Amino acid sequence: MRLSVIGCGYVGLVTGSCLAELGHSVVCFDNDAAKAQMLREGHMPIYEPHLEELFLRNRQEGRLSLATEAGEAVRNADAIFICVGTPPLENGDADLSAIDRVARLIATESRSPKLVVEKSTVPVRTGQELKRALAVYGRNSGARFRVASNPEFLREGTGVEDFLHPDRIVVGVEDAETERQLREIYQPVLDGKFNCPVHPAGCQVTTEPSFVVTTIASSELIKHASNSFLALKISYANALAALCERLGANVEEVTRAMGLDPRIGPHFLRAGLGFGGFCFPKDIQAFIRLAERVGVDFRLLKEAEAINNRQIDLFVEKVRHALWVIRDKRVALFGLAFKPYTDDVRFSPAIKLAQRLVAEGAHVHAYDPKAMEKARAVLSEVVYEADPYAAARQADALIVATEWPEFTNLDWEKIRAEMARPLLMDGRNLFNPKEIRALGFEYESVGRPDGDSVGLVS
Ligand code: UGA
Repeated sequence: MRLSVIGCGYVGLVTGSCLAELGHSVVCFDNDAAKAQMLREGHMPIYEPHLEELFLRNRQEGRLSLATEAGEAVRNADAIFICVGTPPLENGDADLSAIDRVARLIATESRSPKLVVEKSTVPVRTGQELKRALAVYGRNSGARFRVASNPEFLREGTGVEDFLHPDRIVVGVEDAETERQLREIYQPVLDGKFNCPVHPAGCQVTTEPSFVVTTIASSELIKHASNSFLALKISYANALAALCERLGANVEEVTRAMGLDPRIGPHFLRAGLGFGGFCFPKDIQAFIRLAERVGVDFRLLKEAEAINNRQIDLFVEKVRHALWVIRDKRVALFGLAFKPYTDDVRFSPAIKLAQRLVAEGAHVHAYDPKAMEKARAVLSEVVYEADPYAAARQADALIVATEWPEFTNLDWEKIRAEMARPLLMDGRNLFNPKEIRALGFEYESVGRPDGDSVGLVS
């Protein structure tokens, strides 16, 4: 099928490259000229495992191309995936101006029937507005438009894997023809018939994804409801962690046992510095605002958000308690990305923490395996070190703010020897407290006051 993808961010690049990998002919477009040029030269504007390989190979094999102007991406496509950003406005609402712009563009550039698919995370009823904009601005085009919602559930860092091995593919449609067309687009994923770039030696994933067909409104709601529920789970674990610290219990032991109940499940119960990234913080806010507008006070979500904001305060308090005075202390910060396997620092708890420490007068020396370049653009008051040992040099405390597994493979005896005081404050419960204390570190983590649990990586 001839497809186009408008917007070359995380979602657009993964969607475009994976759709091409499934055998479709895909044209991508981004109105950011610098980003488009970078892509044309074969460079990825983001780090995402397997993406570069997929993007370059599909371009080389002729299934993926980059449009130089928007009309080119619109005119020849049977279906157009809208993957533009919906960043938060000051009041928490999602900014839908990019979607509106793309809708008007599609309406005026189309000369043949189009299926327009919203993949960007949008509040309920965006589909209705999209339809209206297409009808109004496309009234002289002679084109017929159908609209569908097809939310993405990709996690940064495992985007390609999540696209090709999803639990579910959700499509919100209004007619049978749209359902048929979307099913056809995703058929190779449903049948597991593609060469998996993530598991080249043979794919172990055997579960067939569910193809869920709903109304457009339900589909739009599923996305916000899913992200908000996951955020809620994390905040629940963090509230538990605070309780554990007061009561002498261990949050990992508690959540591990809780997670064995299939009604609860083991995922997204990891206590730490809280959730960040460009999805949960903005989606939970947009969902709260959406509920408010229709007269529902979603206090449950407001509390989840408040708990998340409090995690940084609690951790800074812990640092203050350990260091006595923060001003003029040298702090090594391990991790800047909002989670491992990504270079994304948007709404990263690690960045928030660094800003707080700098504001309190600490000298922060940071290291992250992938995110230093992006961090530099938003955080200039810290020293970026080329390697973790340099970051640890003469530090009064070392804080782990992102759980990069490779941090556990460092030479921790050497790190201890580099530090002015061997104080390790683990904001992500990455370490086994017993083992790290045995190396001579003073060790603090989140919700593990006695500290003899196994740690995330043991
Ligand atoms: C999230 C969802 O997981 C995806 O399904 C969704 O498609 C995506 O948002 C989106 O809306 O585009 P992502 O933001 O990439 O994906 O990252 P997650 O892996 O969900 O992590 C989000 C944050 O929660 C991170 O800061 C992570 O450190 C934190 N987290 C996660 C915890 O603090 N504890 C946990 O147990 C799990």
